Amino acid sequence: MSDGYYNSKKTDDICDDVCGQEGSRAGKAFSRVRCILRGLDFKTYIILFTIIPIFIFGIYIHGQKLTYFLRPLWQSPPKPFQILPHYYHENTSMETLCSLHGWKHRDTPRRVFDAVLFSNEVDMLTIRWKELYPYITQFVILESNSTFTSLPKPLVFAANRKNFEFVEPRLTYGNIGGRFKRGENPFVEEAYQRIALDQLIRLAGIEEDDLLIMSDVDEIPSAHTINLLRWCDGYPPVLHLQLRDYLYSFEYFIDSKSWRASVHRYKPEKTRYAHFRQGDVLLADSGWHCSFCFRRISEFVFKMKAYSHTDRVRFSHYLNPARIQDVICRGTDLFDMFPEEYTFREIIAKLGPIPRSYSAVHLPAHLIEKAESYKYLLPGNCLRESG
Ligand SMILES: *[C@@H]1O[C@H](CO)[C@@H](O)[C@H](O)[C@H]1NC(C)=O
Ligand SMILES: *[C@@H]1O[C@H](CO)[C@@H](O)[C@H](O)[C@H]1NC(C)=O
Repeated sequence: MSDGYYNSKKTDDICDDVCGQEGSRAGKAFSRVRCILRGLDFKTYIILFTIIPIFIFGIYIHGQKLTYFLRPLWQSPPKPFQILPHYYHENTSMETLCSLHGWKHRDTPRRVFDAVLFSNEVDMLTIRWKELYPYITQFVILESNSTFTSLPKPLVFAANRKNFEFVEPRLTYGNIGGRFKRGENPFVEEAYQRIALDQLIRLAGIEEDDLLIMSDVDEIPSAHTINLLRWCDGYPPVLHLQLRDYLYSFEYFIDSKSWRASVHRYKPEKTRYAHFRQGDVLLADSGWHCSFCFRRISEFVFKMKAYSHTDRVRFSHYLNPARIQDVICRGTDLFDMFPEEYTFREIIAKLGPIPRSYSAVHLPAHLIEKAESYKYLLPGNCLRESG
């Protein structure tokens, strides 16, 4: 490249020369850049060489976080559910309750099957089954020796089966081997396990028009909700359940937006076990969803690794036990993410820690009966067992 321009011409002329098509090709390109830069003032240099690189680095580090914050721009909210009001008081007769909902009272209750895919949530499963026990015909549970993210996992239910003797006469248990396909999307392994669960439900003896509850272990319908649904007729064949959403324990109440749990009137060959939206009708206030409600810090670490959205564990220090304990006691986010909402207004309203709740009213019965052994799930006990 030619240095001639520096010496032989006044700087003002450089640009003219470039425009005037003089010199070698490379020289021209170089000069073009030089003359663009010359035209910029000091402030622009700062922006170009500091702010923009920091911004790009920031996107690199927090890119996913930023996408969540900007979610209202790229994703519109799903079609809203039609929410059915839910009436209940312990002393109200079933005839009255059915008619309050505009439904008919049945002469005999429907049979109810509760089916879950189990990972390692022993306490949540106990609380769930104790809550639902009086109304369930068969408890169907499937576990795999692989997590959704293809990590090997022990058969935790099999190892703890003696603690679940109270359901033994109504229990259909199955386990399957994982496929251990490395690098595969975790949703594929999840779908594979749900298909196996479909088969297990049939083996459990489900028949046409029985009720089938589809939900994760930590999505617990309240007993009175299931009792209502088995005694009444007139609601849609697929009914989603609106649950109260909690994080870490019942001390941190988030909102009532959980909707994934559903109750189906079983149709052979048609009904498929799923955990996504399958209908448009949602029954209000039907139970509890307690996410990351674990007794031990090691269970948090396991869940964070086994979780379908493992891309959220962006930094290894997220798995540091001291950090996890601190996050639980502050009520902040394990993955340091923005709230998953569809409007800026809701995102901003939910920024910062979840406020503590001091209420232990209207929680699953077993939790209150055995409050001493489930202290960590109740208000005022954020410290977890280490290890
Ligand atoms: C519940 O109903 C029974 C009989 O219908 C009545 O004697 C009792 O006082 C009621 N209890 C409450 C708490 O309302
Ligand atoms: C998982 O289970 C399958 C079938 O029971 C077995 O063949 C396989 O060896 C197990 N894998 C691990 C890693 O435990």
